[in-house]
Amino acid sequence: MRTTILIPAVAILVVAVLFVFIGNGADPVSVGQTSTRSSSCRTLADVSKIAGWRGAAVNSPDTFRFVILSDRTGKHIPGLWAQAVKETNRLKPDFVMFIGDLIEGYTNDEKKVRRQWSHIDAITQRLDAPFFYCPGNHDVMPDACRKIYTRLHGVNGKAWYSFDYRGCHFLIADSSAMIGKDKRLAEEQWAWLKKDLAGANKVSDHVFVFIHHPMFSGKSKPHWKQLRTMLDAKKTTVFSGHWHTLSYDIQDGIPYYVLSATAGGSGGAPAKPNRKAGEFQSYAHVVVDGGKATISFIPLGEVLPHDYIDRSVKTSASP
Ligand SMILES: [Fe+2]
Repeated sequence: MRTTILIPAVAILVVAVLFVFIGNGADPVSVGQTSTRSSSCRTLADVSKIAGWRGAAVNSPDTFRFVILSDRTGKHIPGLWAQAVKETNRLKPDFVMFIGDLIEGYTNDEKKVRRQWSHIDAITQRLDAPFFYCPGNHDVMPDACRKIYTRLHGVNGKAWYSFDYRGCHFLIADSSAMIGKDKRLAEEQWAWLKKDLAGANKVSDHVFVFIHHPMFSGKSKPHWKQLRTMLDAKKTTVFSGHWHTLSYDIQDGIPYYVLSATAGGSGGAPAKPNRKAGEFQSYAHVVVDGGKATISFIPLGEVLPHDYIDRSVKTSASP
């Protein structure tokens, strides 16, 4: 009885070993040949050789991408945030970052603030990927807004936090706390930033900083000087919003992007987007490979659905 069970078991084991052995030793996939499941699961480096490409390294298995959505307020334009959510889902990012100013805020009417969050969170939750909040002045000013923001979207009771993903560090700072009147809150964040960044600089391939106000300008300048002492220029990129106008520069050796609004008025003239001036609704798409970031900006409305052109538009085969 024991022997009759043992023989089929040994036979299955031998077949399994042969299958693995032959699979591992198979030639790379060739064009025109029928591939088996084992041969079609090669690395990107292997399949890139099909066309004889030898020119560059392919993406590493650790490559990932994220989208950065930017300001919705002030003067949000109805429907644009929902459109941004739809387009972001088409891009299938690993996660979605935000750069601040999601609600209009600027009131101590808590019911009104909660209504604003309920409305916008219901739309944001349609995202297929995780969404990381970032506090803008509209979100946390005045105090009633800050209280509700930290309850709904804070981490450990604060509006600032950080996380690590595939060797990279993501830091979300609270610029309104830096420039606000609450000195205790400001000092608490500075102490946290110093510790958090010191640790990240030692071990991270890249540090991405998300902070609502452009720090290199106006009354934020002294705070930028302080923050800059904590950043490693060799591996840091900073993103801000607030201005509703797209710009890029190197600030004290650090790549610094200011995003245009995603769903708020573009620049000073919402009705008249001006691409050359950076005044148009957009969002950022970031691919990270080996700790290096490739950053692109996508004008809102230009990531089209697969059925954007219905085949019924044209039935004739003539050009
Ligand atoms: Fe703002």
